[in-house]
Amino acid sequence: MALHSSFELRHSFELRHSDFVIPIMSTNGETIIEVNHLVRRFGDRAVLDGISFNVHRGETLVIMGGSGCGKSTLLRHMIGSAKPTSGSVKLFGEEITAMKELEIERVRLRFGMLFQSGALLASLTVGENVALPLLQHTAKSPDEIEQIVKQKLEMVGLTGFENLRPDEISGGMKKRVGLARALALDPELLFSDEPTSGLDPIMTAVVDELTLKLTHGSHMTAVVVSHDMTSAFRIATRMIMLGHGSIVAEGTPDEMQNSPNPEVQQFIHGRPDGPIPLNLSQDEHKDHQQVRPRPFLGGRFHFHHKHS
Ligand SMILES: Nc1ncnc2c1ncn2[C@@H]1O[C@H](COP(=O)(O)OP(=O)(O)OP(=O)(O)O)[C@@H](O)[C@H]1O
Ligand SMILES: [Mg+2]
Repeated sequence: MALHSSFELRHSFELRHSDFVIPIMSTNGETIIEVNHLVRRFGDRAVLDGISFNVHRGETLVIMGGSGCGKSTLLRHMIGSAKPTSGSVKLFGEEITAMKELEIERVRLRFGMLFQSGALLASLTVGENVALPLLQHTAKSPDEIEQIVKQKLEMVGLTGFENLRPDEISGGMKKRVGLARALALDPELLFSDEPTSGLDPIMTAVVDELTLKLTHGSHMTAVVVSHDMTSAFRIATRMIMLGHGSIVAEGTPDEMQNSPNPEVQQFIHGRPDGPIPLNLSQDEHKDHQQVRPRPFLGGRFHFHHKHS
């Protein structure tokens, strides 16, 4: 089978980390993530301006907030793929902000990440994308890997799609392949950036059920960024809402539902009018050095008219 042979081929080239010993923690309620005074500036603008919160084992923390408020940026700092301007992020008790890439790789064995874009490798098939973490981090045989890939794809409702390439599947399917890949190593911690965006309501429910099942009995801890309020309230044990670089509100789903904060009410009920601005103000754009308006094409290119 094509999938089989390409697994074997790649197997010999990939860096393996099977020698690392992963301690098994048994205490429930232990702190898995500690974020302290996290600041990240882009130019003069502090997208994250002193964020602090903890996540405990078995929780599903939903991070919500308006588009562009810094949710994905926060996740990138939590997984060590971006360095903060200042502040601290501890994963499993270890400071990740000060780690070199190889050390971060060791911690990455313990968590999975579903990126907002799906981040699938276009040149690999669906099956190979899901197999990638297993090839990189385990010494499992191609047969074992093929079985795990099948099982993970079944979990996200994609049985039989192994041999298609990312450009041959829909946006929602890409998301689910990304989720299957994030779960490939049976992580104890899962970060998901908008796992249900682009999914129909039934598939959203399937993905939510999966999160609930995996976190049941504190087996897995989840940090989920979501705009989808139905899904967020279905899966969250705790929620935080970001805005203006800070945590605007934090609480259980019940507390958020009953929050007197008008920003929370506007957001969870999807009201167009309220304290949350529709756009960055002109001043914020001016302060945001990285986002410069691009020159209007018409100003640089000229239409050539034939002269008669
Ligand atoms: N590497 C970067 N350089 C400059 N600005 C950045 C960078 N990364 C993020 N930003 C800015 O930080 C802000 C927050 O972006 P982020 O992607 O975290 O938003 P978000 O809350 O995930 O939005 P969405 O809900 O639309 O996904 C944006 O204004 C973005 O332009
Ligand atoms: Mg985002």
